[in-house]
Amino acid sequence: MELTLAEFAWLAQKRLDPPVWDFIEGGAGEERTLAANTAAFDRICLRPSVLRGADSPDPTVKILGRTWDAPLAVAPVAYHTIAHPEGELATVRGTAAAAGVPVVISTFAGRTFEELAQAADIPLWLQVYCMRDRSITRGLVERAENAGFEALVLTVDAPHLGRRLRDLRNGFRLPPGILPANLAGDGFAEPAAHSRTGFDPGLDWSVVDWLRSVSALPILVKGILTGADAIRATEAGVDGIVVSNHGGRQLDGVPGTLDVLPEIAAAVGGRVPVLLDGGVRRGRDVLAALALGADAALIGRPVLHGLAAGGEEGVKGVFTVLLDELTDAMALAGLKTVTDIGPALVGPAPHPL
Ligand code: FNR
Repeated sequence: MELTLAEFAWLAQKRLDPPVWDFIEGGAGEERTLAANTAAFDRICLRPSVLRGADSPDPTVKILGRTWDAPLAVAPVAYHTIAHPEGELATVRGTAAAAGVPVVISTFAGRTFEELAQAADIPLWLQVYCMRDRSITRGLVERAENAGFEALVLTVDAPHLGRRLRDLRNGFRLPPGILPANLAGDGFAEPAAHSRTGFDPGLDWSVVDWLRSVSALPILVKGILTGADAIRATEAGVDGIVVSNHGGRQLDGVPGTLDVLPEIAAAVGGRVPVLLDGGVRRGRDVLAALALGADAALIGRPVLHGLAAGGEEGVKGVFTVLLDELTDAMALAGLKTVTDIGPALVGPAPHPL
């Protein structure tokens, strides 16, 4: 039985072809930002409060009008089918079996929106890459909305895909049969080349208005790393912000997400929910993110590790471990509910943990 997310990663690495493992694990450039994401969590020291009668803590949260079983969600990751043939279908079912939390489905999902919407009763959100051909993006959004998806997550840190040196060295191409199930046509085998021709590199903030004109769903922007951009996003009328550096896969050299979270949370001032992803690997990382101003944390690579390790059961295992760790840490830190989590929970680290 796996007791940590690291064990799922170890199992996944054993099962996946090395170039596929590199595609999943790798970051851009020298992978400084990739390393910064986990390093930021490693620097956190928790400061518990004792004798607060906090056994059986309640990890539920309310975000965008829905109650989630925990302040967790699945980050949008392309092609879950690369890790397991059932792909996102297993992800949705495995997540739902462990916790009622949202799954963000990538524009490049390997399974159709319609089959995913039937798979389980948890919120599905659509991650949107805005294409040069807006009719493609509009079609995706309309299909997801008709299928019952509940929110749109517009990725704003990818005018094209970053320089991922592992993939360039491996000459990485998607294995045969791995295709974006919701996009017609072909030409997707080499992700970086496709992003260069497909993605609209000239987007500005007016894209939020455009998205609102084609959908009634709440819109979150993913890829915010400064307080100034967070303010611009709220001025553009978004319904939520995802602090993200795309798991270190886009601009190498930007900070770890946890390090910029306090600046962004202060700029947003509670006007809209702030979510965070990048390097969340333990229940106590979720506590740290909430203490520094996030409403919830998203996990990316660990979901693919769970899939590769055991399909639906593996994803369920990943969420079960995270939830167990989270409720254990809440009880031991004297936190009855997530609203008890505040800045006093984290302090200057005498040494990294
Ligand atoms: C991603 N990510 C991503 N983001 C996005 O907006 N659309 C996408 O299609 C993808 N695809 C994707 C593929 C793979 C293999 C990875 C690893 C990541 C980024 C993802 O949403 C998230 O920001 C990071 O993965 C979070 O970091 P961790 O949890 O992987 O450290």
